Amino acid sequence: MAAAGWKPLKIKNCEVPTPLLSAPMMNISGYAFRSLLGRFGGCGLYYSEMLSSRKVPQERAESAILSGLGKETQVMLQLVGNDAECLRASVKKLEVYAPFGFDLNLGCSRAKIMHLGWGAAMCRDAKGTAACVAAMRNATEKPITIKLRTVWTQKQQAKTFLRMLEAEGADAVIIHPRTPEKIFTRPAKWEWIAEAKSMLRIPVIGNGDIFTPADARRMLEQTQCDGIMIGRGAVARPTIFREIMALLKNETAPASPSKADILEAYIRCLGEDISTAKRTAELKTFCEYFANGLPVPHWFWGPLQGKQDAAEIVKLARSFLVRKKL
Ligand SMILES: Cc1cc2nc3c(=O)[nH]c(=O)nc-3n(C[C@H](O)[C@H](O)[C@H](O)COP(=O)(O)O)c2cc1C
Repeated sequence: MAAAGWKPLKIKNCEVPTPLLSAPMMNISGYAFRSLLGRFGGCGLYYSEMLSSRKVPQERAESAILSGLGKETQVMLQLVGNDAECLRASVKKLEVYAPFGFDLNLGCSRAKIMHLGWGAAMCRDAKGTAACVAAMRNATEKPITIKLRTVWTQKQQAKTFLRMLEAEGADAVIIHPRTPEKIFTRPAKWEWIAEAKSMLRIPVIGNGDIFTPADARRMLEQTQCDGIMIGRGAVARPTIFREIMALLKNETAPASPSKADILEAYIRCLGEDISTAKRTAELKTFCEYFANGLPVPHWFWGPLQGKQDAAEIVKLARSFLVRKKL
């Protein structure tokens, strides 16, 4: 029996242990970061970074982006692309890793992605997107979620699009209520999450600007959403999921380790050879967002941007956290 304040989350008859999801984040949410979050607990479902559906069908098993897959049961693999056949082939190929399910990225607003008509650009192409969702639906029995941005000016346009996703067989939607042009300087408009929740039968997951347990409770209360996805807040504070669950259950959360200890735990999760291009990229992006919200001096920030060598990045991050006693 769940305590007041939260309900168990089910996506297509599959139980998610808690209604808290970790967000897909390019060059962060790989196996190492998912393992780090897993150590602290509280997260019910972990999203991979976006995987190009154009490349996945040709990807070799030893490829860095497939690293760790097959060892986790609670992982959602996020695909990006607008070609129904590529998406179908990608789902078929990735099923062998027995993920929890698949997500389609309709949220990425990077110019490179939008230019291809992928990511958030697909929210303006209902017909093409319907074919993509249908292709994924026909390729798997596993849960399919859709993560999107709110590109529309009118709520009615959003409603029509969301109804289409539900009709094509999506099992849940994740709403990051910002237009593609809006970067993180403006707050996410949570009222769009509430609007979606009021009209859909499938679960609605809210996303955007959760940095503390109190933020999470506020989003649940204000929007009545079925679950919450956390991105930047989970990198800055990887213990946030267990802290939220403690708050929702009226319990006391375990004490948080120091930032320096979390960094060491993350480095261990990255594995023995952190000098491979993919792991170094993950380490660098992790450090960038891990330092978010801290009084970051320019002697840390500037050099971090320029560094390409994993050992030097580790040295810099260690010296910063230890010097600051964080
Ligand atoms: C470094 C970084 C990489 C991201 N990569 C992806 C991605 O691969 N796929 C995706 O759907 N969203 C991606 N996002 C967006 C996040 O999943 C999330 O929607 C956004 O950060 C808002 O949530 P937050 O306020 O909890 O961070 C990324 C965000 C960041 C900061």
